[in-house]
Amino acid sequence: MNPPDVGLYTARSSGARPSLADLDDSAIAGVYAARVPRSEIDPATVRDVLTAALRAPSAHNAQPWRLSEVGTNEYLVWYAAADKLRADPDDRDGLMAVGGFYETLLLVAEAAGLAAPIAVGVRRHGAGIDLGVVKFARLDREPDRLSGSIGSRQCNRFPYARTPLPPGLRHELEDLGQILLSPDRVAGLVSRASVLSWKDRRFVADLEEWTRFDTSAPDGMTFDCLRLNRLDVVAFRVALALRTLPTWLAWIYAQRDVRLTRASSAMAVLLADDRRPETLFDCGRRLIRSWTLINSLGYAWHPMSVVIDQSTVTDLAELIGGHDPVAIYRVGAAPTAAAWSKRRSLDAVLVPAPL
Ligand SMILES: Cc1cc2nc3c(=O)[nH]c(=O)nc-3n(C[C@H](O)[C@H](O)[C@H](O)COP(=O)(O)O)c2cc1C
Repeated sequence: MNPPDVGLYTARSSGARPSLADLDDSAIAGVYAARVPRSEIDPATVRDVLTAALRAPSAHNAQPWRLSEVGTNEYLVWYAAADKLRADPDDRDGLMAVGGFYETLLLVAEAAGLAAPIAVGVRRHGAGIDLGVVKFARLDREPDRLSGSIGSRQCNRFPYARTPLPPGLRHELEDLGQILLSPDRVAGLVSRASVLSWKDRRFVADLEEWTRFDTSAPDGMTFDCLRLNRLDVVAFRVALALRTLPTWLAWIYAQRDVRLTRASSAMAVLLADDRRPETLFDCGRRLIRSWTLINSLGYAWHPMSVVIDQSTVTDLAELIGGHDPVAIYRVGAAPTAAAWSKRRSLDAVLVPAPL
């Protein structure tokens, strides 16, 4: 396995990154611990790979992916409309999440000695959108250099140090289709977007649907991941009760996002050529590669999707020279480790193929 070229980055370590053995997910540990013999594909290994792939990220931790077995070691990967977010009317975040799920699956598979190529094929139906069929096979080359790091990818919502990112990391993120901006250039947009969100009933309804008051819930956002203290929880309940905040209160709530944005080394904006499902699927794959790379070098990652969900997306597009932004996130060195989010079981997402 080729580890990331850390010399290139003058990599630093936050000391906060857990080893796989620390993860509360025996499937991941199992996948990494034992690479299968190359001569055969053990169904149990495929199942472990699929289970470990469920650690992929999604907005609100909605986990909008589904798998359907369509042949021996062959799985249809699709986007489930049942998990669609109200603030994602064109399925941008949902399709990127499914792309990220596939990239996670690919990297986990390679760590286990399996290849997992996908034949992309888009089909819309009543239950969602098919994205393609993955077929597991023996891996007859070295695994992807990010495969050893995918198990430690996570979102960190703490403030970061503002130290500049190493040039090697910046260049790789640019090669993956991102533009890097200074946080101060984006802070005003984040403030406006966050105010608009707290006044937006769709945003508050998504929070209501996906926030979990029980930290062991298998999906949605738990308070430990959201980093909410008792006062924050009261404020949060007030927002849910009001459904749309008055501008002055929305502004107060928005300052949290602004402070976090300023407490970052850089803001990265992911670009898309168009908004077709296959393009957004590919964007999700690039997002996961970027995120895993960032975490593997000891840096932290946290999206600020409100800037793209709200009308501020037009100003952001102007700021980046007319390109189409589909994701925006903060990067930096986090002094504090984040909580680990939970996932549904494989049985909950392994379902019969849609008609
Ligand atoms: C496309 C996408 C958009 C996201 N947008 C936000 C966001 O705006 N704010 C936020 O705090 N987290 C955002 N997240 C992070 C998810 O909430 C997080 O990945 C998920 O809860 C799982 O946690 P983990 O990444 O630590 O495994 C986003 C994730 C994805 C994939």
